[in-house]
Amino acid sequence: MAGVSVQAFRRQGRRFGAGLVCSEMVSCAGLSHGNERTLGYLRIAADEHPLAVQIFGSEPEVMAEAARMVEDAGADLVDINFGCPVRKVTKTGAGATLLDEPDRACRIVAAVAEAVDVPISVKMRRGLENGSRRCLAIGPKLVEAGAATLTLHPRSARQMYTGEADHSLTAELVELVDVPVVASGDIVSLAKAQSVLATTGAEAVMVGRAAQGNPWALRQIMGVDEEPSREEVAAELILFIRETARELGEHRATGFLKKFYGWYLGRGRFPRPFKQELTQLASLAEVEQRLLAAAPGARFVLERLEDDLPQGDEILLDLPISVYGGG
Ligand SMILES: Cc1cc2nc3c(=O)[nH]c(=O)nc-3n(C[C@H](O)[C@H](O)[C@H](O)COP(=O)(O)O)c2cc1C
Repeated sequence: MAGVSVQAFRRQGRRFGAGLVCSEMVSCAGLSHGNERTLGYLRIAADEHPLAVQIFGSEPEVMAEAARMVEDAGADLVDINFGCPVRKVTKTGAGATLLDEPDRACRIVAAVAEAVDVPISVKMRRGLENGSRRCLAIGPKLVEAGAATLTLHPRSARQMYTGEADHSLTAELVELVDVPVVASGDIVSLAKAQSVLATTGAEAVMVGRAAQGNPWALRQIMGVDEEPSREEVAAELILFIRETARELGEHRATGFLKKFYGWYLGRGRFPRPFKQELTQLASLAEVEQRLLAAAPGARFVLERLEDDLPQGDEILLDLPISVYGGG
């Protein structure tokens, strides 16, 4: 998820049971120009694997070059974005617009598949317009062109994130292709995951928004249904803050993290005004102090968490935050 799936988020997702995590979407043009910020997306930590890095663009050769860089950086899978509905991306001919340009989309997949040895996956929406079934027409062609798996988020680009994901389309896609299909959209619980897997025949589910500030959703989907204690929530949030500050630098992390406070503090019975207070504090150190004051036992949970993490990664990575908004 652009603007969310920073390295700290992905590492946390792996710790809580995700079988595969994915980077934010990375501009192939940025990679090809050697843009330093964009290259930052290709820093991969040892405990993220297996990791997919997602690229977006509209030119087959530039996408192929980007895919080679992604493979060299150590990604286990190259994912291609044919789902982003955001104008900044679609106006360049990338993202969801490619669903209306099947020939170009197939040339992109073929060029990327030819360029790298790791598997290629494609992430797509149902189509551009509401009610569109374009994903069913294009899916088999993308497989023929070299996609080893397809992930479907069955909303239209026009829908953005409104309404519901129509997983009857996922079921139809599963029937049409002989590669694994991953179901994305509204997977928020074990019950939902089980029903989507059972009714679609998909091989896997992808969890997006439900995991924002809530890694316990992943644990619940993997079968461990335990509400986190206040101490556990505070400790995970502090760890996330520390890791993100290391990744993005204190200044950028301070703004980036604000949206996460509300997401995290939905659990742990924190007083209502508390979230608001956190977003108004000037430094991350103060946010930590406030969290520890509200949940003193978090200190011990945090110590245990940090002891279990791989060490030796103490440098500031200065990674970028995506400016693009979705898929
Ligand atoms: C903030 C945000 C950013 C997203 N960024 C991407 C992205 O970069 N690439 C992508 O393929 N999908 C992206 N998506 C879409 C998700 O991968 C997913 O398909 C969609 O949110 C539906 O799943 P969910 O209901 O589990 O969130 C994004 C979604 C959100 C909310």
